[in-house]
Amino acid sequence: MPNRLTRSVLLLSTLAYTGVHSASVSSTPAQTFHGIGGSGAWWPNDLYHFPEATRQNLSNLLFSSSGLGLSSYRYNIGAGGASTTGPGDAQGVYFLQEASKRGVTHLTAFANSAPAKLTSGGASCNGRFVSGTGGAYGTFLADVIAHFRGQGVNIDLVSPMNEPDSSFGPSPCGQEGMQVLPNQRAEVVNGLYSALSSRGLASTVGILADESSNLNAASSEYSSWLPQVVDKVAAIVHHTYDFPSDSSYTSYVSNTKNSYPGKATWMSEVCCSLGNPDGSGKGWSGGYDPTIKNALMFAGLVFQSLVTAGEAHYDFWTLVSNQLGCSPLSNPSCPNVANSNGWNDGVIYYDPNYATNKNYVLYVKKQFWTYKHFGNFVKPGSQRRPIIGSDASKFTMAVSDANSYYILAMNPNAGDTSLTLTFPDAACANRAHRTSASEDFVQLSGAVRSGSNWVLALKGTSLTTYIFDRRNC
Ligand SMILES: *[C@@H]1O[C@H](CO)[C@@H](O)[C@H](O)[C@H]1NC(C)=O
Repeated sequence: MPNRLTRSVLLLSTLAYTGVHSASVSSTPAQTFHGIGGSGAWWPNDLYHFPEATRQNLSNLLFSSSGLGLSSYRYNIGAGGASTTGPGDAQGVYFLQEASKRGVTHLTAFANSAPAKLTSGGASCNGRFVSGTGGAYGTFLADVIAHFRGQGVNIDLVSPMNEPDSSFGPSPCGQEGMQVLPNQRAEVVNGLYSALSSRGLASTVGILADESSNLNAASSEYSSWLPQVVDKVAAIVHHTYDFPSDSSYTSYVSNTKNSYPGKATWMSEVCCSLGNPDGSGKGWSGGYDPTIKNALMFAGLVFQSLVTAGEAHYDFWTLVSNQLGCSPLSNPSCPNVANSNGWNDGVIYYDPNYATNKNYVLYVKKQFWTYKHFGNFVKPGSQRRPIIGSDASKFTMAVSDANSYYILAMNPNAGDTSLTLTFPDAACANRAHRTSASEDFVQLSGAVRSGSNWVLALKGTSLTTYIFDRRNC
């Protein structure tokens, strides 16, 4: 029979082995969430040609709460190039309307280039914004938005320059693009703001800028344009193709807040990384990985923006992609296996040869299921509650609304652990949903009570959301 000392050593080693962690949900809210979403670029051109039942299924997978439950959708205003949709194009309009019908809260119109006739090369890529055309370009964008709003599609955000740091040349280009020099960006914002104002839309349609490709480029160029137009910008949006460390991301956010008080920064685009659940190995690259490994890596990026950087809005890039890197009709299991030919630029995939082989299957990657946790449980108007205590993980987030707490908790490691959580006020376990190698958002019973605390089991290599009702049990 072990003596007292041996028993406590045994107890300690049991704790270390099972990895018990404890933390508390703060009584003080952090940021209020704005939206979770992604872009319609440029899969609507293809998916529009799929059977109507599949187009409806896709719209439900993206925009309904039975699917991702996105609260943000970015519609691409084309500039007349071959690779994009435009306001006259039925393809992009179809999915914008489906998002609108399903009540997606925020609809952004974004453009990669001004209409070809306004750019330096007379094309929709490989050229530059022409100084002096800000009014004409702003009028074009405002007309498109007014047209949609007149039809009940309430676009409430507009981004006039997506990645102005590049022209996306040389021609032929892979996508539309227009370089806008830092000292030209204020003119673009001014032209758009006055066109929106003259249509009475300046207070209902917010301008997003400048969608620089990475945080370094963004922050080093703000001083050339942002001070001139900061009052006309609704939010300062950026991409994170530098895959920043936690410390460079947080210093970007605090520097930008200090220089431009009262303006939110948020994430409007990222994709295309391999890497591990804990974020090691991440970085811009090709390669397709449909497994839990990549799905958790991308979930970690969302946690980084929302928890570590404290931002209120997150958009992934293109949502739907044909970059499977394999041919599912000749190798039916290949959409479920990683390969180096494809790209991690979507959460749902389709056959690149659909037009000839008539394969209209939608291939759902594991990242779809992890992103669904954010789409379903991080709703506009809900608030983040910091999780405090030395065991708090940067991959765990508490969200509160009037009736519920949602605890999104990721375990990037192989071993099972648990988190003992203390709430600042009444909480009673409801249910949970878990995504792991073998589970897709499966419903489980809720957390287990332990005195005045709650124990949340965190299976190895999984993302679980525990839901609590804000009442006493
Ligand atoms: C929608 O597509 C998904 C993914 O391919 C599939 O599992 C599901 O059965 C489809 N639903 C309908 C109603 O077609």
